[in-house]
Amino acid sequence: MPNPPAKVAIFISGTGTNMAALLYASRAEKAPFEIVLVASNNPQAEGLALAELEGVATFAHSHKGHSREDHDAAMEAAVRESSAQYIVLAGYMRILSDAFVERWAGRILNIHPSLLPRYKGLDTYARAIAAGDSHAGASVHLVTPELDAGEVLAQARVAIAPGDTPESLAQRVKLAEHQLYPRALAEYVARGSDPEYLYARVAELALALPETHAKDSHGSPGFRVGTEKSGRFFAHFSVRHHGSEHVAVLVKTSGMDELHGLTESQPEVYFRPAYYGASGWVGVILNRPDVDWSHVGEWLERSWRTAAPSRLTRQLNAAEPF
Ligand code: GRF
Repeated sequence: MPNPPAKVAIFISGTGTNMAALLYASRAEKAPFEIVLVASNNPQAEGLALAELEGVATFAHSHKGHSREDHDAAMEAAVRESSAQYIVLAGYMRILSDAFVERWAGRILNIHPSLLPRYKGLDTYARAIAAGDSHAGASVHLVTPELDAGEVLAQARVAIAPGDTPESLAQRVKLAEHQLYPRALAEYVARGSDPEYLYARVAELALALPETHAKDSHGSPGFRVGTEKSGRFFAHFSVRHHGSEHVAVLVKTSGMDELHGLTESQPEVYFRPAYYGASGWVGVILNRPDVDWSHVGEWLERSWRTAAPSRLTRQLNAAEPF
């Protein structure tokens, strides 16, 4: 069953051509996101009128005469009201407060008109031309408290022509942005149900534990501790096995009582896997919103401890801060 589209709020301040590109992309069949709100700090923003015309909910609240915190709070209340899961900045000319950004960590994206990390801030086209660069471009990145410094998710390169002015270059970069942003957002919201991405996250955590290696078992990837020859499994990665919808990591509980308790009390997080469940393994579901990866890491370590020789667990205990 495909996941329902992710709900997205877009913040704009001006013309909103990127907003329009995202909106029309969201209306394609099987688009993995839908636009539930277009919000602005500028009640006159042209993009608001377009969103209204297209039947999208809008919210406008001028920042003038308000502290940054109060203005952010009004914008955030509108986002919550719309039940958006992601905020996408598209020409939003306000810096968001650190607290706001931290609350939405991993769920706010921005598009910046340069090939980051080059040319953070303003006047990016003029700076790229003045530097004699062969290419300008655009970057979609996660928003963190430091301006234009979050993880870059995708980039588009745009060749600089000999006679380019900042204006002529900006026009072509915009065209590239309109292609880039919908694609980058689609990939980003879909990665929470993409087995390849989820496997990579699990592998990173599992292989950070001492003396571990990846090894298949019954055709599925797993992780063992110990030597290649005689290691023991402490985790299995499971993709929609035996009719289940889950992408999950299977880890070892202390036994049937704990397994039962977990699956009864938090069925949205845990399930009893086929076969492995009989020997006390629990499935931690990964293809769900808001996976807490440090929690997954704790389970992996716990499971590793049950399988690791005491020589290694002693080593890990000694290395851990008390
Ligand atoms: C874009 O150039 C984008 O890179 C920058 O702001 C501009 C927004 O333009 N962050 P528009 O309002 O989407 O036309």
